[in-house]
Amino acid sequence: MSTVQVMLADRSYTIRIQRQCLRELGAVLKGDHGVSRTVLMTTRRVARLHAPELRAGLEDAGLGGAQIEVPDGEAAKTLRVAQRVYDQLIELGADRGTFLVGLGGGALCDLMGFVASTFLRGIAAVQVPTTLLAQVDASVGGKTAVNHARGKNLIGTFHQPRLVWIDPAALDTLPVREFRAGMAEVVKVAAIWDAAFFAWLEESAEAVLRRQPEPLAHAIRRAVEIKAEVVGLDERELGLRALLNFGHTMGHAIEAVNGYRRIRHGEAVAMGMIFAARLSESLAVVASPVSERIANLLARIGLPAAPPDWREQRQAHLHAIAVDKKVRDGAIGMVLLEEIGRATVRPIPPEGLLAGEF
Ligand code: GLY
Repeated sequence: MSTVQVMLADRSYTIRIQRQCLRELGAVLKGDHGVSRTVLMTTRRVARLHAPELRAGLEDAGLGGAQIEVPDGEAAKTLRVAQRVYDQLIELGADRGTFLVGLGGGALCDLMGFVASTFLRGIAAVQVPTTLLAQVDASVGGKTAVNHARGKNLIGTFHQPRLVWIDPAALDTLPVREFRAGMAEVVKVAAIWDAAFFAWLEESAEAVLRRQPEPLAHAIRRAVEIKAEVVGLDERELGLRALLNFGHTMGHAIEAVNGYRRIRHGEAVAMGMIFAARLSESLAVVASPVSERIANLLARIGLPAAPPDWREQRQAHLHAIAVDKKVRDGAIGMVLLEEIGRATVRPIPPEGLLAGEF
């Protein structure tokens, strides 16, 4: 077992990483957190795979068997679905002492956190992420969101969970495409923060992709440690935390232009990182070339290098970027690399992105 702490004064919390830990959660919630009631929020597909273990533990601890299911994936991150969850929480008689436990991937983490932060002005959230992307990114750091027709994650809050409970064995059943997409977020934190971890990924990518327990646990742990450190330094993204958006400006635009079903979030981030790394080179922000190393590692992981129809769709991508949350006074806070392991944010006017290439 290993644990990582997110240090945020009275909102500090533990991230526990351990294979086959789902059944234990109920006893820990009851024993360490004094919880007397939980509602489990999950999706139908994840419920089939992982809920029985988790529920058995919650029931053994006397924490009830209430369960709310929402549709899978990004399409469920809407105010309409959130409204349905509020209705069910009211019907179940959830109160301010109820802990909402979210079991699922990144979209479920975002939606559950949003509901938990707004229901009764905020109830406790526990994240139990079941995809690699959710384990290393979405479940940690307290960002919650639903989407708006004009853009992804435009409505949301900061609401730190009370506990994050990561079972790397849950990834054994994850489709390979989802696993690869999650690896993009692992590469991201290495690229912006830790050159030694990046080099380790270059040595160990295949072992992690084979989901060998030790390398996989190391990759998850180091990614989570970096995220916890950054969030501990800048919870509300006033500065440093923006570095975690490396690859996301173009990534979100790629998702918006190509459709959330067609391109996974991690795939879009992978392409966005290559774009941002090349832009770092063409704007001479970087001392020595970095994009080739990043592109090579992402290619070995099996992630795409460029969006389909980039030349025809260039304007559409720029238009999508213009509604991004990171736009201030007409300029985009673009995360660029100074070297592998060190990043910076530079304001770039949207037209300046035309200098970028895949
Ligand atoms: N996914 C970026 C962040 O949590 O700040």
